[in-house]
Amino acid sequence: MIQKCLFPAAGYGTRFLPATKAMPKEMLPVGTKPLIQYGVEEAMEAGMRNMAFVTGRGKRALEDHFDLNYELEHQIQGSSKEKLLEEIRHLIESCSFSYTRQNEMKGLGHAILTGYPLIGNEPFGVVLADDLCYNEEEGVLSQMAKLYEKHQCSIVAVMEVDPDQVHKYGVVAGEEIEPGLVRVSNMVEKPTKEQAPSNLAVIGRYILTPGIFEILRSTEPGFNGEIQLTDAILAQARSGKVLAYRFKGERYDCGSIEGFVKATTEFYARITDAD
Ligand code: G1P
Repeated sequence: MIQKCLFPAAGYGTRFLPATKAMPKEMLPVGTKPLIQYGVEEAMEAGMRNMAFVTGRGKRALEDHFDLNYELEHQIQGSSKEKLLEEIRHLIESCSFSYTRQNEMKGLGHAILTGYPLIGNEPFGVVLADDLCYNEEEGVLSQMAKLYEKHQCSIVAVMEVDPDQVHKYGVVAGEEIEPGLVRVSNMVEKPTKEQAPSNLAVIGRYILTPGIFEILRSTEPGFNGEIQLTDAILAQARSGKVLAYRFKGERYDCGSIEGFVKATTEFYARITDAD
């Protein structure tokens, strides 16, 4: 069973300025819940209980969100508002939360490596909270955790994208070993349409085996001069086995205004339909 989930959350969220000037982008709400809470709920559904965050300056609101607020709780005690805090209280009671800071922005690979002291030598999940995933029956990370039980190797979640969009993603190629499951033989970070080995794009859900840390320690800067997780996973695929999994569900790119608005509209429709 995978116990830990890592949340890289040090990025500035410049695309959402000025909203993100004094507030972490992970705290942007879809409905009444901040993006990061959806990610933590998905990890919890997958059986993970230790939530590890790689944060940076200006991210204190994340720590406060996953902590009790006695004054507020006292104020609303016994009122109809109390039930609005039920879900977050349940998360706080069920999980542990730990934090470390990334003080230089050197890419996603560097962020993951910064999380090593919180993870140690065990397999772990990774959630990029910008990517909001929804699947009614079973969350994406839970689907992946089950696959991990069977295959015991690193797994990346992928989806088909329009060839004009491949430059926004890590893109994988390999052999399909069973429907929806590809054994990765190539992986390129943000290729041009011409360089892309396929149109299978990685989204922000990973299960990684701890060997990734050793690889990241010697990974040279790649695309954009940053240490890329994609390059480290490719090295892992070359020396062993890495799977790409075509997940079931919907993914919203909440790192873009368009994706964020789409998520807001569709989540709101689901809430009101359920009422
Ligand atoms: C990161 C990864 C990329 C992946 C993407 C998914 O890029 O580097 O491989 O496809 O997340 O959202 P970012 O969106 O942080 O630029």
